[in-house]
Parts: sequence; C-alpha cells; structure tokens
Amino acid sequence: MDGMNELKNRCLGCKECPLGAQRTNLVFGTGNENAEIMLIGEGPGEQEDLQGIPFVGKAGMLLDDMLSMIDLDRSRVYIANIVKCRPPKNRDPLPEEKNACSHWLRAQIDIVKPRIIICLGRIAAAEIIDGDFKISRQHGQWFDLDGVRCMAIYHPAALLRDGHKRPETFADLREIRAEIRRICDRTYA
Ligand code: URA
Repeated sequence: MDGMNELKNRCLGCKECPLGAQRTNLVFGTGNENAEIMLIGEGPGEQEDLQGIPFVGKAGMLLDDMLSMIDLDRSRVYIANIVKCRPPKNRDPLPEEKNACSHWLRAQIDIVKPRIIICLGRIAAAEIIDGDFKISRQHGQWFDLDGVRCMAIYHPAALLRDGHKRPETFADLREIRAEIRRICDRTYA
C-alpha cells in the first residue's frame, strides 16, 4: 500500500475530535500525490461530505475554473483541507478540531513534498502561514516556509459571495502561474 492510502486508512478510524462521528464521509484529499503544487482549503461542506471529495460543490466548480485559467487541473495538484470531516452547518472549524486534525495535513504535506502551497481563504492561511493572517491585505503575497513557497488567495466561496474580489484573485493566479514557471520542473511538462 502506498503512503497516502495507508495514511487515509488510518485517518478513517480517527476519533480525535467529535466531527468524525457526525460526518457522512471522510474528505481526506484528492489529486496527484507527486504534485509540485498543493492547495489547502478549510473543511468539507455538504457536497464534499456526501461525496468524500474536496471542493465538489459550487465553490469547487469555481476552483476548477480558477485552475484552468492558469493551465492547471486536478491531475496536476493535490487538494486537501485543514479539517477532514464536515463541521455541522458549515460552521468554522473550532481550534480544538483544527489542532486535532493538523497532524494528518502535516503528514500529507510530507508525502507530497510540494514546492508551492496555495491556501484557499483566511482559515487555511492562519493555520499554514500566520495565525494573524489578514486575507484582504496579505492575499497574493509569497511567504517562504521551510523552503516551500506559500501564498493565500481568497476562498472560491468568498469569490462567489463577492464578485468584486475576482480581479485581485486573477492577478494572484497570474503570479502563481509565473512562480510555477520559475520554480517547478514538471507541472507544465
Ligand atoms: N470549502 C473548503 O474549504 N473545502 C472544501 O473541500 C469545500 C469547500
């Protein structure tokens, strides 16, 4: 069994917070385990919980469009969330839920070994980049974390709620594409 499948199988039995008992499906991660780019969201919503796959609802459809704007698709990235089980009524994950779940994401990052991590929204950015992350001010900026280039962009659900944020996000996506061309060897090969 490969490392990611083994990890997922262990995560299926996780009882480290109450969310596991309430979910329909574990939403562990999807995409290319050898990807140079990893996208990290917040946590599963209703559709993700039903299907067991990250970003398959309306926000996920927009995320697919955003990826295609920079010549990417799900086969060229790995997508995971901060928490792997849906918080009730899509509320923000609680600190104790994020803490209990964080070792699974760290293990996923260790397996994928991405060159670039893109945080989707404030909650992912606060976990990965800086606890005080201000998404409206700091989206589009690069941060260097142990040699991995990290950027946060607005969450696609925020772009669905507020179309005014889209032009800034297009600029961020163009910057991501430029950085991929600069430092990634295989993504567009
Ligand atoms: N929003 C997220 O942050 N993650 C998903 O998987 C779906 C919606």
